[in-house]
Amino acid sequence: MVLFGVTGDLARKKVMPAIYDLANRGLLPPGFALVGFARRDWEDQDFAQIVHDAVREHARTPFREEVWRQLSEGIRFVAGDLADPEAYQRLKETVSALDSSRGTQGNHAFYLSIPPGLFPVVLDHLQSSGLATSAPGAWRRVVIEKPFGHDLASAEELNHVVDRVFDSGSVFRIDHYLGKETVQNILAVRFANAMYEPLWNSNYVDNVQITMAEDIGIGGRAGYYDGIGAARDVIQNHLLQLLALTAMEEPLSFAADDVRIEKEKALRAVRLPRNIGQHSSRGQYATGWQGGVPVVGYLEEQGIAPDSTTETYAALRVDVDNRRWAGVPFYLRTGKRLGRRVTEVAVVFKRAPHLPFAKTAVQELSQNALVFRIQPDEGITVRFGSKVPDTTSIQVRDVTMDFQYGDSFVDTSPEAYERLILDVLLGDPPLFPRHEEVELGWHILDPVLDYWAEHGRPEQYASGGWGPASSYDMIARDGRSWRRP
Ligand code: BG6
Repeated sequence: MVLFGVTGDLARKKVMPAIYDLANRGLLPPGFALVGFARRDWEDQDFAQIVHDAVREHARTPFREEVWRQLSEGIRFVAGDLADPEAYQRLKETVSALDSSRGTQGNHAFYLSIPPGLFPVVLDHLQSSGLATSAPGAWRRVVIEKPFGHDLASAEELNHVVDRVFDSGSVFRIDHYLGKETVQNILAVRFANAMYEPLWNSNYVDNVQITMAEDIGIGGRAGYYDGIGAARDVIQNHLLQLLALTAMEEPLSFAADDVRIEKEKALRAVRLPRNIGQHSSRGQYATGWQGGVPVVGYLEEQGIAPDSTTETYAALRVDVDNRRWAGVPFYLRTGKRLGRRVTEVAVVFKRAPHLPFAKTAVQELSQNALVFRIQPDEGITVRFGSKVPDTTSIQVRDVTMDFQYGDSFVDTSPEAYERLILDVLLGDPPLFPRHEEVELGWHILDPVLDYWAEHGRPEQYASGGWGPASSYDMIARDGRSWRRP
């Protein structure tokens, strides 16, 4: 695997540790090699030290000297500018030397952990140097990270650039949410059981709420985040993927193409409300408190222009226009510096059509719900009404049944990046969005972004709360309220 962007946050916090974790779990072939490519004056051992430090700090599994020794024997570094053809010749020599010394047999994956603006130059050089071309029986793959463009037009352009160099089966677009166990479990729960699917439609479901809340601010990522914002960063990819998995029909099989066809159908059925302003909300975190410490607002963060209009909170109602979901709103929301870190998909059911109890007996009964707890407290919750024990007149109150991964399974779940990197090496595509899905995401979001661009600044919300006032108003307009996760 050749890694571009070795000094970035993602490479250090996710990619390098995941490679070590895979090696530690015995899932990498002994000949695996990692080549770093960057404009740094480094030798192999300097890069190995960077990987070592990243692994020590961020790996999920314990550090074992013998695993590290074997992995580090396959670490190389090629110094060079991304635009310098000679650097790609050196890279070519390095990977062919590894082919003979480590036995990688011409199988190379190029991981572009770099800003998308640099994709064209790297892809062009991979092509002209011959690095993108595989010999018969071997493979060449490319891994790309979001943002896949900033609107539909730029995404199409980007896809075009990638498709020019690699055939579509060799392109692996990472949406790391799809690598999460709890996300994959949505389809397993829906389609492996008899008891959920009969209820999974507009006869029984009142609304679906998909939340990805973070308590952190933008940290050191001003350069990436400003100008992108919450909707492009999270709704366009992670939340629409969660929506697709929740709304889609049963696939013929779990083969990549069968799953993709159903996800795409669901995304194609997504409709925005006619009045976007009334059914969406955006905000920017202001000063406030987080975990007992005072924190600054977005506009005071280092590297952010004091008049930035980038939103750090975004919420949106969409409808899925098909027979199964007619009239069931899907509410999507995401934000930074919210009350706590939680991602969940909540399917909220209609009230029972008739309640044969006194009004006072059901005051504490709300709507039934099935909640996929994606993170951090991974599991599933079912909320329903139950009789309060030992009351003379019947009283019904909400209770929950909880499935916790930790209670039912011995092994802890791997990190999303472990699964995704392994799938790249195995050439297994189901967990990677195809360019059609990416473009559908933009097709849905573009009108919202255009609307926001024309309508003033995002509203401020206090750090540590649950978002701007307009987010409460938009859902209250439909006679509903957000779940308090
Ligand atoms: C990334 C976003 O895709 O997901 C980040 O770019 C966000 O802004 C991150 O913080 C959250 O990932 P996770 O796995 O911690 O929910």
